[in-house]
Amino acid sequence: MKNDFLSIRDVSTEEILQTFELAKDMKSQPQKYSTALKGKTLALIFEKPSLRTRVTFDVGIQQLGGFSVYLSPAEINLGKRESVYDVAKNLERMVQGIMIRTFSHQIVLDMAHHAAVPVINGLTDYSHPCQGLADYFTIQEIKGRLKGLKLCFVGDGNNVAHSLMFGGAQLGAHVTVACPKGYEPKSVAVQQAVEDAKATGARIEVTSDPTEGAKDADVVYTDVWASMGQETEAESRKQVFGPYQVNKKLMAHARADAIFMHCLPAHRGEEVTDEVIDDPSSVVFQQAENRLHVQKAIMYQLMK
Ligand code: CP
Ligand code: NVA
Repeated sequence: MKNDFLSIRDVSTEEILQTFELAKDMKSQPQKYSTALKGKTLALIFEKPSLRTRVTFDVGIQQLGGFSVYLSPAEINLGKRESVYDVAKNLERMVQGIMIRTFSHQIVLDMAHHAAVPVINGLTDYSHPCQGLADYFTIQEIKGRLKGLKLCFVGDGNNVAHSLMFGGAQLGAHVTVACPKGYEPKSVAVQQAVEDAKATGARIEVTSDPTEGAKDADVVYTDVWASMGQETEAESRKQVFGPYQVNKKLMAHARADAIFMHCLPAHRGEEVTDEVIDDPSSVVFQQAENRLHVQKAIMYQLMK
């Protein structure tokens, strides 16, 4: 792994698989790594709310012998109270790593460019790479393989959809994004994933038909219809996304042994029914837990 972790596209397939091996070892023998990052500090910059990302990075660095400093949306005010450059130049003298969750992806790129310490993307409007890696780690844990599997992402072509496309392309898993017209993943992201997929044989597809998307899928994945920052569109999006709800009827088109995934938080009754998210085929809490193990492996590789 290079100096930062900003996108799944920045790491090679080999590096992803090495990260998975390390995460697996950390999950089964956490005590082995209890002083791996002894005395090191990670700054956690949040310009949006969080449960999983905050807790897994905070607990994760502590389990490696380090510390975290949480900076809430009200505190830093990136680009307004202080420039990204100045924040980077301050923090690099105080901490050994920076995790950042913000709106514009450019802010994360700028932070990484200016800061001499590793920067980890904890979600932007464009991507959520820690989520994507933890999700493929989870699928591998359950299915025993990734190559040739079909993942269907149903809903908004958002940050999580982008990272799942990038991950699938690198790991040889076919990814179909089923979304309403006008809510497709960014075309540049689709093009990049299609390009990356040439090396692995993965198929990256976009369709507006959820039934076709879910057909024979090994994994059916969904996310909220309105992401953080899109709250004012929430009501209008409910009309558009209604036919894209993941319910029993849609799951019936997937393989009999298909699993259901969601990055969480979930809006039960909207993008997914209780029946599906509470079904034994749902692995949403396993994927949430795996954020911890995979991010520990990322922090270790970048900050050791
Ligand atoms: N999935 C995820 O990143 O959750 P949080 O927004 O709670 O961190
Ligand atoms: N797409 C969602 C993911 C939350 C983890 C959002 O950006 O709000």
